[in-house]
Amino acid sequence: MKKWTREERYQKLEDIPDIDIKNLEKIVLNCSFRQKFHIQPKTGLLNDPNGFSYFNGKYHLFYQWFPLGSVHGLKYWYHVSSLDLVNWDQDGIGIYPGDKNDSHGAYSGSGIVHNNKLYLIYTGNIRDYNWIRDSKQCLAIMDKESNIIKQNKPVIDSIPEGYTEHFRDPKIFKKDDLYYCFIGAQRNNLTGCIVYYQSKNLINWNLVGELNTSLNKFGYMWECPDYFELDNKGIVIFSPQGIKESGDLFNNIYQSGYLIGDKVDFSNRSFSHGSFIELDRGFDFYAPQTMEDNKGNRILIGWMGLPDINYPTDKNGWANCLTLPRILEIRNNKIIQRPIDELYKLQKSNLNISDSLINQEKSYDGFNGIEYNLKCKFKNIIGKSVGVKLRTSLIEETMIYYDIIDRKVVFDRSKSGEKFAIEYGEVRKCFMDGLEIEFNIFVDRSSVEIFINNGQEVFTSRIFPSKKSDGIIFFTKGQSSLEADIYQY
Ligand code: FRU
Repeated sequence: MKKWTREERYQKLEDIPDIDIKNLEKIVLNCSFRQKFHIQPKTGLLNDPNGFSYFNGKYHLFYQWFPLGSVHGLKYWYHVSSLDLVNWDQDGIGIYPGDKNDSHGAYSGSGIVHNNKLYLIYTGNIRDYNWIRDSKQCLAIMDKESNIIKQNKPVIDSIPEGYTEHFRDPKIFKKDDLYYCFIGAQRNNLTGCIVYYQSKNLINWNLVGELNTSLNKFGYMWECPDYFELDNKGIVIFSPQGIKESGDLFNNIYQSGYLIGDKVDFSNRSFSHGSFIELDRGFDFYAPQTMEDNKGNRILIGWMGLPDINYPTDKNGWANCLTLPRILEIRNNKIIQRPIDELYKLQKSNLNISDSLINQEKSYDGFNGIEYNLKCKFKNIIGKSVGVKLRTSLIEETMIYYDIIDRKVVFDRSKSGEKFAIEYGEVRKCFMDGLEIEFNIFVDRSSVEIFINNGQEVFTSRIFPSKKSDGIIFFTKGQSSLEADIYQY
């Protein structure tokens, strides 16, 4: 596969001949792993969702984009917008990097509505001649016609004393008439944390200091922080790097999760909270961002991918997609995540079955495909396990099951097609209990998102099976009743 030189990775899209881009687009279009109902880049590499907001009657979302190939290079913000969070318009590049304050990338950031405009605050990534990194927090303002103007002067111009050059991903929110900006940071002692600023006008920012959590040594860098209040709780989301795996926990290369506790006390920076909980139990989930929709719901979208992992589509000139939007709720001091209701509006045909299975594997007419939403519920379970195999053929299958003896939900992609990232294992598990289980599964051409028991846990993963692997097989070791519905996309 192509080896990218530093010069090639930092070329601007604007400098590449049209014919080269057209050729790349052709290669990408020929890839059988292109998704049907997920946000994906038309060429190149997508990573974090950015600037997720509701403005002027529409949802706006941007993503980190390196257009020229599936490597992390010069990052642009690509803009998509939607009336319903399901059907997205492609609005083209929102923020172009390459100026003095973002010479080596318009890195991640967030959006907030102010004075009838959308303020987009992002990290300008800068490298000097010796490849030493610096970062500035920059502002771009979008008007109602979606014209985006970058402001010349960074709003946060320097990195405060005590922190390294890993200082990025500003998340802006408003609380009691003041704006706050959370930034993902690395202390000089190489531990991760969140530093925050305060502002009255989104232009002049004052450093407040570090958010005081009880996680003083928890990885070497915290990326993409987020903060919101829900159900009278304070929730801090971030993506820490450098956490050791521990049993079923923290098995991916980098993590992404949250702390839940009392609302942050912004007068003294204190946040009292419980332990760090992973947002997703699957293989490919990172750098999520949330926003409040026009009904006051908290909605989350993540990157269905991870840094420093090679994906099978790299050779086809593109990589990664975003997750489906999820609505967040709090139950028993935990975040519950459900696919947003609008997703069901896309659904076409609907088939359902009701059966009871005793120590068997079973398929049903019409229950197959490569782009669908499958809901299945196993009740009155007696025995060892119940589950479903997706994207099956004679040699391939992707399996989710509930092991009622071990009290675990298990996701297995060891036979899911083209292999990748296997050094991080091929099975993920998490705790579950009860005598019934419901899987709400969204299968696209190269991904699965599995919501367990109405959003108690989610497993999000890329898979790369053959197009012909389109079977669905339900199974029980022991006995159980089964109800299942399938909607094709
Ligand atoms: C997270 C991240 C961010 C950074 C961006 C660059 O995936 O590394 O910290 O702003 O990606 O694309």
